[in-house]
Amino acid sequence: FQHGALSGKRVFITAGPTREPLDPVRFISNHSSGKMGYALAEAAADAGADVRLISGPVNLPSPPRVECVQVESAEQMLAASLDGVEQCDIFIAAAAVADYRPVAVAEHKIKKGSEEIMELRLIKNPDIVATVAGLERQRPFTVGFAAETRDVLEYARSKLERKGLDLIIANDVSNPDIGFNSDDNAVTLVSTATTLTLPLGPKRLLARQLIDQIAEHFHRKSQR
Ligand code: PMT
Repeated sequence: FQHGALSGKRVFITAGPTREPLDPVRFISNHSSGKMGYALAEAAADAGADVRLISGPVNLPSPPRVECVQVESAEQMLAASLDGVEQCDIFIAAAAVADYRPVAVAEHKIKKGSEEIMELRLIKNPDIVATVAGLERQRPFTVGFAAETRDVLEYARSKLERKGLDLIIANDVSNPDIGFNSDDNAVTLVSTATTLTLPLGPKRLLARQLIDQIAEHFHRKSQR
């Protein structure tokens, strides 16, 4: 692990789940614990970067020397991600953003009715990492994750291309010992030209390896 590999660089990292409200007391969300994103923030700060962590609701302490911005919904995470993004060198999207949110948020608690089936109408959320990767001016080096349960590498490659990313970290989340909410993970780092598999290990160790790799790809691209 290289200390100073990111010195003087500004890094934004999204982490955790988003919560999409239905009414004042209910929301749609997922099992992301934030562990992967927080470990990346800590590793990036240890590599000398000036780090902003944009986090959905999780039960983790802020890593030392990291600026933490707390958000709840995908729309709030997008706004926090775009705020100051022109100063950002590297953007890493580790958050598990809800793909859809309820079309309408009820002002009062939704009452139980007599009907057995209740239908929810959902609308697509903005894609945060694709929005950042698509910025025309001052676009940061952009890294996404792909959480998949099958055909992991294939789907990861298509997300890399569709979202216009520099790198994608393919995460097989079909195995409950890795991925969402576990302390360990195993991932494959994919660029258009390379793939690198990082075997099972604690998220904090993987985060250091990933930050080393991201720094290397970032510096190589900046030299071109
Ligand atoms: O938080 P942990 O419990 O430690 O778990 C870690 C993790 C499994 C959540 C993490 O390693 C991971 O894979 N994060 C991405 C989860 C995800 O939502 O993947 P996706 O394949 O649905 O999304 C692809 C990429 O687009 C991701 O970088 C995601 O942050 C981004 N995205 C998705 C939708 C959206 N509206 N905006 C986005 O920016």
